[in-house]
Amino acid sequence: MCGIVGYFGYRDAAPLLIEGLSKLEYRGYDSAGVAVLNDKGIDVSKCKGRLANLEARLESKPIEGHIGIGHTRWATHGEPSDVNSHPHCDCDITISVVHNGIIENYMKLREWLTSKGYEFLSETDTEVIPNLIDFYYEGNLLEAVMKSVSMMEGSYAIGVVCSKEPDKLVAVRKDSPLIVGLGEKESFIASDIPAVLNHTRDIYLLEDKEFVVLSSQGVNIFDEHGEELHKEIYKVTWNADAAEKGGYEDFMLKEIHEQPKAIKDTMTSRVISKEEISLDKITITKEYLDNVDRIYVVACGTAYHAGLVGKYAIEKLAKLQVEVDVASEFRYRDPIITDRTLIIVVSQSGETADTLAVLREGKKKGARVLAITNVVGSSVSREAHDVLYTWAGPEIAVASTKAYVTQLIAFYIVALRFAELKNTISQEELELLKEELYRLPALAQETLKHQDVLQRFAYNTYTEKDMYFLGRGMDYAVSLEGSLKLKEISYIHSDAYAGGELKHGPIALIEKGTVVIALVTQNTLLDKMVSNIKEVVTRGAKVMAITLEGNDDIEKTADSVLYLPKIHELLTPVLAVIPLQLLAYYMAKQKGCDVDKPRNLAKSVTVE
Ligand code: F6R
Repeated sequence: MCGIVGYFGYRDAAPLLIEGLSKLEYRGYDSAGVAVLNDKGIDVSKCKGRLANLEARLESKPIEGHIGIGHTRWATHGEPSDVNSHPHCDCDITISVVHNGIIENYMKLREWLTSKGYEFLSETDTEVIPNLIDFYYEGNLLEAVMKSVSMMEGSYAIGVVCSKEPDKLVAVRKDSPLIVGLGEKESFIASDIPAVLNHTRDIYLLEDKEFVVLSSQGVNIFDEHGEELHKEIYKVTWNADAAEKGGYEDFMLKEIHEQPKAIKDTMTSRVISKEEISLDKITITKEYLDNVDRIYVVACGTAYHAGLVGKYAIEKLAKLQVEVDVASEFRYRDPIITDRTLIIVVSQSGETADTLAVLREGKKKGARVLAITNVVGSSVSREAHDVLYTWAGPEIAVASTKAYVTQLIAFYIVALRFAELKNTISQEELELLKEELYRLPALAQETLKHQDVLQRFAYNTYTEKDMYFLGRGMDYAVSLEGSLKLKEISYIHSDAYAGGELKHGPIALIEKGTVVIALVTQNTLLDKMVSNIKEVVTRGAKVMAITLEGNDDIEKTADSVLYLPKIHELLTPVLAVIPLQLLAYYMAKQKGCDVDKPRNLAKSVTVE
């Protein structure tokens, strides 16, 4: 979730770029930079860390010019560092590029360009872009950009300047946001509207594969065939604060709605039909897995709940036994760890103290540590032997939502790869699961449509003091996550129980009017869950069941039923958690809680 800003006009570009980038800080970033065109060519200033570091650099070494591009980077390919920061230039620094997104085929492009004599300084995917543009440059920047993007696979919003055409700024997008701001004798590009709102409220909202040229002639937009387009101006009527949240009331709601994209991004390049599952640079082999004595999944909070689903997936598909533990317990229970042990640590932030302690202790005792994390360059990502990133983008709300679903996807990818290596899955089953994974982004989108029903449910129940979640199998793991979400942001006491445990104690809590959310997505356990629902209904509970389409019989037992789209039984947690997140969100809103910053909680727990 990098931020892009570009300026073309008569004013000093650098301060305007910094100001624009500061309005995009909410997107999260770990480094920043600007490139400005002037008589000498292209001046670049960039560094790791906060925007303030870049400002200090620019103060001590100002760069002048009226055309420029700026960037805040959220690391994906290559750790946060000065050299990996954007803008990136071609070898002779005539072309400079800022980029938001992921170029999936960058390795192939990089090899190809290397064979043509190009050299690369950074580890980023982005650095191929200025070099590709240079390769195609024959005196027309727009044409060179068009040819270059036709070679690129993946998602991108890019801004380009070229010292050979010092009167131009070219930009294009595909699957990454980009807007154009129209000022008086000046224009802007940006990833998001807040970056330009101090200067203009007249905006062009670019569509995929639309190319824009900012020049002294004004703003011209072209389609991918070079035909000029005439777009309507969008007049912004709302304030910058609302825009940062993309029009959503809170970051949490925005992040819940970003889940279909986050799921897709996390699968991208790892699950490709007819090809082996890719675990990026992880080199775990069949021999290694045959020799493994135990697998631990260790994490905290929501990441731990993702690990519980991961256990099901790995055991079911790869037939490897997995033990899941919370990091703060694991580290003090003297667990058995040998040099044949695999520890999978899961952490959105990559900085959680207990998880990090497990990683370090595990390594000391000879274990191999595989990290599933969302933050490139985080301590966990740097210290683990292997890393599988979740591409959720920065998560700002304290309550984890999109990171959780991408952690689930990461576990499915690991489980499928292990199964492939160990030959514990048939080709048909593998292809079926891949197809089902591909369906998830669209089905997650469909599941979000339940928000009105859940808002109404919250309106009717938000005064409850307690609420219970029930499930069996993977549904139990998801119930735990639903219960955590509810308590952490709405402060309503809640617990989750495995259906079979009811009779062993918890059923004593059920009385007339107790609200119970029952998850019933595991068809093999359906009858047993229906019996559990009957048990609590008989004692006066009001039950909302969440099940898959087609299980209409549940309506005979539960008070209300919410249907999820049909999907392979193993993948239901990705969909089932969405209504639970929305339920927690609307309960908290009804109660007037600060949804994004719940009391007593911090986004990253870096102390014990
Ligand atoms: C709950 C939540 C926390 C985190 C936990 C671990 O919504 O966000 O329970 O999951 O603090 O954090 P990470 O994943 O950063 O290690």
